[in-house]
Amino acid sequence: FWVGCCGNGTTPPGQKTGGAERMRADRAMPTFRTPLKSCHATMPNMLNVHLVPHTHDDVGWLKTVDQYYYGDRNDIQHAGVQYILDSVVDQLLKNPDRRFIYVETAFFFRWWKQTAPVLVSFSGRLEFVNGGWCMSDEATTHYSAVIDQMTMGLRFLNETFGPCGRPRVAWHIDPFGHAREHASMFAQVAAELLRFHLRPRLKSELSLQIPVHARILPNGYNPPDGFCWDQSCDDPPIRDDPDLEDYNVDDVVNRFLMIASGQSLVYKTNHIIMTMGSDFQYENANLWYKNLDKLIHYVNARQANGSKVNVQMRLDDFFPYADNAHNFWTGYFTSRPALKRYERLSNSYLQTCNQLEVLGGPFSGSGPFGHDDSWTMRRAMAVAQHHDAVSGTEKQHVANDYARRLADGWQHCQVVVSNSLAALSGSSAKRIYCDNLNISVCPLTESSHKFSVNVYNPLARPVTWPVRLPVNGTAYTVLDANGKPVDSQVGLKNRGSAANELLFQVQAPPLGFSTYSVSLQRRGPPPASTRPRTPPAIQNKFLRATFDPDTGLLSSLSNLETKQTIRLTQNFYWYNASDGNSSVSNQPSGAYIFRPNSSTPFVISRTAKTESLQTSVVQEVRQWFSPWVSQVVRLYADSRALELEWTVGPLPVDDDLGKEVITRLDTSIDSSGIFYTDSNGREVLQRKKDFRPTWDLEQTEPIAGNYYPINSRAYIKDDVNQLTVVTDRSQGGGSIQNGSLEIMLHRRLLYDDVRGVGEPLNETSDVFPEGLVARGRLLLTLDRPQSAADTHRPLAQEVVLQPLLTFTSGDLHPNTRLEFSGLQDALPPAVHLLTLSQWGEDSVLLRLEHQYQSGESKQHTQPVTVNLLTKKKTKQNKKNSTALSGNLPRRFTAQNRKRAPFVGPEQTEALRVCGGFWQMVQR
Ligand SMILES: *[C@@H]1O[C@H](CO)[C@@H](O)[C@H](O)[C@H]1NC(C)=O
Ligand SMILES: *[C@@H]1O[C@H](CO)[C@@H](O)[C@H](O)[C@H]1NC(C)=O
Ligand SMILES: *[C@@H]1O[C@H](CO)[C@@H](O)[C@H](O)[C@H]1NC(C)=O
Ligand SMILES: *[C@@H]1O[C@H](CO)[C@@H](O)[C@H](O)[C@H]1NC(C)=O
Ligand SMILES: *[C@@H]1O[C@H](CO)[C@@H](O)[C@H](O)[C@H]1NC(C)=O
Ligand SMILES: *[C@@H]1O[C@H](CO)[C@@H](O)[C@H](O)[C@H]1NC(C)=O
Ligand SMILES: *[C@@H]1O[C@H](CO)[C@@H](O)[C@H](O)[C@H]1NC(C)=O
Ligand SMILES: [Zn+2]
Repeated sequence: FWVGCCGNGTTPPGQKTGGAERMRADRAMPTFRTPLKSCHATMPNMLNVHLVPHTHDDVGWLKTVDQYYYGDRNDIQHAGVQYILDSVVDQLLKNPDRRFIYVETAFFFRWWKQTAPVLVSFSGRLEFVNGGWCMSDEATTHYSAVIDQMTMGLRFLNETFGPCGRPRVAWHIDPFGHAREHASMFAQVAAELLRFHLRPRLKSELSLQIPVHARILPNGYNPPDGFCWDQSCDDPPIRDDPDLEDYNVDDVVNRFLMIASGQSLVYKTNHIIMTMGSDFQYENANLWYKNLDKLIHYVNARQANGSKVNVQMRLDDFFPYADNAHNFWTGYFTSRPALKRYERLSNSYLQTCNQLEVLGGPFSGSGPFGHDDSWTMRRAMAVAQHHDAVSGTEKQHVANDYARRLADGWQHCQVVVSNSLAALSGSSAKRIYCDNLNISVCPLTESSHKFSVNVYNPLARPVTWPVRLPVNGTAYTVLDANGKPVDSQVGLKNRGSAANELLFQVQAPPLGFSTYSVSLQRRGPPPASTRPRTPPAIQNKFLRATFDPDTGLLSSLSNLETKQTIRLTQNFYWYNASDGNSSVSNQPSGAYIFRPNSSTPFVISRTAKTESLQTSVVQEVRQWFSPWVSQVVRLYADSRALELEWTVGPLPVDDDLGKEVITRLDTSIDSSGIFYTDSNGREVLQRKKDFRPTWDLEQTEPIAGNYYPINSRAYIKDDVNQLTVVTDRSQGGGSIQNGSLEIMLHRRLLYDDVRGVGEPLNETSDVFPEGLVARGRLLLTLDRPQSAADTHRPLAQEVVLQPLLTFTSGDLHPNTRLEFSGLQDALPPAVHLLTLSQWGEDSVLLRLEHQYQSGESKQHTQPVTVNLLTKKKTKQNKKNSTALSGNLPRRFTAQNRKRAPFVGPEQTEALRVCGGFWQMVQR
């Protein structure tokens, strides 16, 4: 079974060669960067039309990924990917001139596993493009998860087909807008991806981010009008028997030549592309290929009569396209806020699972808690990156399926984590996972009078983290790993079933854990209780936030170290959605599209009812705005960020229309209509109101047309102040007024926005029959612009890769190891440990990243050198804080593990500014 590599032109397509021989020859070819040679000769003096037979197979949208694969539930949508692949492969084998490109490895993997691979010479006919597990969303994904899903797909293709399975084209035809970071990732993760294929449905997106190699096609990714020969289309077939009445070859060829020459006028090249296929097409590939063969034959036959058009079935490197979209696809930046958070949290779980799978050695895959691995979680996360998954644009039952896959993945990972922690701590005590701590529910901590908390930190530097646990007692003793008491506080809880909440700060070492033990001292009413009033201010040694005594709203924020203060008012508002019945446009707001019917949002309440809590560990102001909007403004003793924990929902729909809820920060910062957002969690881009850098904008949607995806942070600044907001999931946002920043938190809409999903965005569940309640956190920091990144980079990282808490009941065995670090020392602040995961039986994948952007930080923007030292070197350089590994080898040897740990060879590599990645697979 041969894919990819069209050969070097010396082997005629279709020639039979020995499979294994050919495989070796292909593997030996240094093809990575050599341009793909053409199988079909092109004609230099002619207009060369390249037909690209393709299918666009969503990894879940109206149906779940499995329903699409099997062709189940065809009542929802007729689509069955297994039949597409069966049928296409069959057709490719029938005629060596036929070609096909395939994109979604998630489907191809399923098919390959089920279909006994037939060894046939098939060179170059089936080509993989893009090659990721799915075609990821670009607006709402985090780069770490995108890199993981690309890695999974590309790895499968490489291991299955060798270099010939290696995609050379980044085919991203459907995501609703394109992020700069994606272009950069394609270039870095898979340097051989030469072209970036656009579906610019969104003018505003297009303006900011066309990567250098982008090419645009005229019909989206559909065939030209009249040339769709799928079973799902109605275009007439080519009827080429002149003896029959319906003979239409001349008509078809004339129409085709007209379209080709029309398309060629737009481009300065004599190569144009026509995409022959669309969503879930080629289930009966015979229809397509039979007509394509005829089309090629009859169009090229005209050359004898002087035609200058040459048609062939191949993918070349030109991707022309034109955009005709008018509506702003900015709603999906926020759609399904709970799924977006769960996906982000699952990324943190997966990275922790991957790391512990490595650190625990073979024991983690097979130990006291059973046999398992991270594979299910990896697949669930890869599928969740699809452009109708984390984007929130799928049907409700499909969203449930994505969440179920993630939950299932985490169940498998819990076995790995339990085994690994047992190996690393030397204790096989049962680990308990409190998956509902987000709603302050944990049966163990609520009922137990003695338990321990293991805090695993997936970052390569130490972190301090607040832990809040639901409890029923009123006083507890908390001891750290050294037996030292830790300041803790019991307060009245504002949610969940237990009476109180125990709060303390934990510290966890780099890439390791620390264990805290908690024992009950007293039951009774809690000592620290809230007071029904607004305090003038809450403050710690870094920050001070003041409140307006009349309204209960925030009124200012100060950084006490830098002695800067801004005016800051924060409140909640909602936009009234368009119902699609106005005379201007019939577009309603929906899962994809944000289209408020007025540019002025309605305030939910001008004042907040407040309560406050002030203790040595935390200070809180709890605000109630309405039965469906509340917030806790919180400042921990050691934190450089002010936390706004918002709770929004169930959104009332008695208006039969729906609401889109935002929070808005209005400040004294003179931001001149400019604000900044991150791109997929990494680099930061400047956004300017009513402006696009590369073309003249006529603004038609003053709010929606100024919304951008915020994946992990946004900020506004002037010469002296920068206010940064770090988010815990992807959200949409904008800066509509000078000095103001708004973020959309939740949306519920009763009309479908006619982009195919066919359902209103009206999330309810058994737990939330009245409508989804979403909760999340925004972290605010105030800094000087020159040094703001020094705060928001590490802060955002702690939110993305948050510590994992596991619990054990009762006393731990005295020999239990309470503290562990997988690193001899923390990595330098500029370097982020992006990936540490098991690669093969005896190899691991390690990725390091320089996380500061050029000019962003005086301290950290410089290139950094990291030494991955051998044991010997590590000892010599003990003071040098850049060593990775070190204590692992000895420990592993001591416990007599078979698998070698990740001792680096003597390697040095300078990581350059932001996005400098470095990776290795090490035995
Ligand atoms: C592809 O697979 C081969 C064989 O497993 C391996 O040696 C090679 O490093 C892989 N290449 C990439 C780019 O992963
Ligand atoms: C070429 O032109 C001749 C004379 O007009 C015509 O008979 C013939 O069918 C044409 N061939 C093609 C392939 O169109
Ligand atoms: C809390 O997290 C669990 C998964 O751990 C999830 O199922 C649940 O929906 C979350 N609850 C809220 C209110 O976000
Ligand atoms: C905790 O206390 C609450 C109220 O007193 C009670 O309803 C709940 O059952 C208790 N939970 C446990 C686990 O003891
Ligand atoms: C929201 O818009 C609808 C029509 O689109 C209108 O009937 C309704 O009054 C508006 N709501 C408010 C609060 O103005
Ligand atoms: C908008 O028009 C459609 C039909 O044209 C109607 O079904 C719907 O109720 C209208 N919506 C509102 C809010 O009036
Ligand atoms: C939205 O959900 C609510 C609560 O389940 C339901 O009563 C209402 O009919 C739904 N509306 C639409 C348009 O789906
Ligand atoms: Zn799609």
